[in-house]
Amino acid sequence: MCGIVGYTGPKKANDIIINGLKTLEYRGYDSAGIAFVKDNKINVYREVGRIAALEKMIENVEAAQLGIGHTRWATHGKPSPENAHPHTSMNRMITLVHNGVIENYLEIKEDLSSKGYTFQGQTDTEVIANYLEDDYKKTKDMKQSIMNMMKTMHGAYALGILCSDDKDTLYCVKNKTPMLAGVGEGFNMIGSDAMAMINETNTFIEIKDLEFLIVSRDEIQIYNQDGDRIERKPFTSNINALDINLGTYDHYMMKEIDEQPAVIRTLINEYVREDDINIDPKLIKELQEADRLYIIASGTSMHAGYVGKYLFEELVKKPVEVHLGSEFGYHLPLISKKPLFIFITQSGETADSRVALKLVNEKGYKSLTITNVEGSTLSREATYTLLLKAGPEIAVASTKAYVAQVTLLAILANYLGGNNIDMNLELSRVAHAIEDIISRKDQIKDIVHHKIAYSRNAFYIGRNLDYFVALEAALKLKEISYIQTEGFASGELKHGTIALIEDRTPVIALISQEQVALNTRSAIQEVLARSANATIISMEKVSNKDDDFIISDTYPLFSPLALVVVSQLIAYYAALEIGNDIDKPRNLAKSVTVE
Ligand code: F6R
Repeated sequence: MCGIVGYTGPKKANDIIINGLKTLEYRGYDSAGIAFVKDNKINVYREVGRIAALEKMIENVEAAQLGIGHTRWATHGKPSPENAHPHTSMNRMITLVHNGVIENYLEIKEDLSSKGYTFQGQTDTEVIANYLEDDYKKTKDMKQSIMNMMKTMHGAYALGILCSDDKDTLYCVKNKTPMLAGVGEGFNMIGSDAMAMINETNTFIEIKDLEFLIVSRDEIQIYNQDGDRIERKPFTSNINALDINLGTYDHYMMKEIDEQPAVIRTLINEYVREDDINIDPKLIKELQEADRLYIIASGTSMHAGYVGKYLFEELVKKPVEVHLGSEFGYHLPLISKKPLFIFITQSGETADSRVALKLVNEKGYKSLTITNVEGSTLSREATYTLLLKAGPEIAVASTKAYVAQVTLLAILANYLGGNNIDMNLELSRVAHAIEDIISRKDQIKDIVHHKIAYSRNAFYIGRNLDYFVALEAALKLKEISYIQTEGFASGELKHGTIALIEDRTPVIALISQEQVALNTRSAIQEVLARSANATIISMEKVSNKDDDFIISDTYPLFSPLALVVVSQLIAYYAALEIGNDIDKPRNLAKSVTVE
């Protein structure tokens, strides 16, 4: 979590860094800060809240040509100006921004305290700044001090560093946390991702773990932790600066919901071929030969994994297990003789999944990462990668990435299962069904207004595939409306949870699967008998004329792709009506790079 941008060059660093930080707000947004080198001095500005507050704070600050900025998601210490980054060492020699967590910071802090160092806040970051100052006083060589720091500090860190003795240079260190260098003509940059720099350059240099950079306007020097110089060619990114513009929308989430039919069509074009699939034959062979698939993911991506499991088991007849990244990394399930591990991750950076992938790699197993971010950590570290091609997803609540994940899993499962479904036709039908839902947004807004917004708690229920959608629907509603919502298998309510149903508790039923439609309708009767406020969302083929929202028929196995869009819109309109910050819900960050 947390986002970093640094710039050195002839333009006004103030604006470039603020603009970069705005694109990184998805990584954390409880406080922000910036440090500029100006007239041989390093000036630091920090503010609690969003980048807009920091921007206001520095609006009259003179133009600088070198600086670093940070947007924070609190790990150590609450959001406050003292805990916001950049942090400065006691004698102001070192100023730095940090993304990550230093595991052994307490023992290093103790050592520094015994040498007389004092600390303003509670962060591990301040410990790095003071460690570097203490070491630099002895070495008088930042390169050497950074190498010493890398050997002393354990944990995850991406750092942007300024040293008061060298006011033309930006230092950058990376271990287990994303960081990229941006290459320009007469300027250079560092940033947590390409989007943070895309308005200035589309040329980047990858930084690997345990490497550091010495960056000046004209040169980027890369070193490993032993100080050996590394040569690496830059690459050109195909991210389009326009993709990150809000355009006429009020929120990225709605823009991204509306993009979903186009995302499905892109995936058809990318991967579906008439009697074939446009995927590395080696990967297809691995998938065919595997005796069991292990899907590992978190949050929304894990919910996509459940749908994937269902599709693979139905179409390929291959057993699939779904595991949480945060659990898998610390307790391996029994592994089959020929497993293949599939990591599903929009960002490609989720630390919980990465711990699991490291373990899989240590054991010598093959893996596939399905991600939206080319060159991301989990993509680089897995044996194979498949890209979701959904374009940057900026709203914290994931929408189009889920649809892309399920679409790609459906394409794979169908091909491996004998290519019996005309994917071009069936996925196009899904795209049409989504367009139809989108064209009836107002109907959903109305349902939310009358039946859901302002409730204390709510339930989504469904059975079979609809149950997996209920899990995702509940996550979406709770994360942006803050209404406590549970996704339940409709047959399970009566085994205890029905005790929570009170007068007018919203229960939203999802019904798309013919074989269980009547069972879910019985569960609705049970909650109605306890005065719940039921909303029924059904697919045409299994609908009743009084249902609240009916979606067009799709191939039954692909109904989650359309049903989920209704739930995304329910969440959106609930959050809008309540007045929440839709794109940046409280306490969350998009890319969860801490365990
Ligand atoms: C919810 C959401 C999260 C992510 C989860 C995993 O809307 O976005 O639940 O799905 O943090 O993130 P990725 O997919 O980047 O690994």
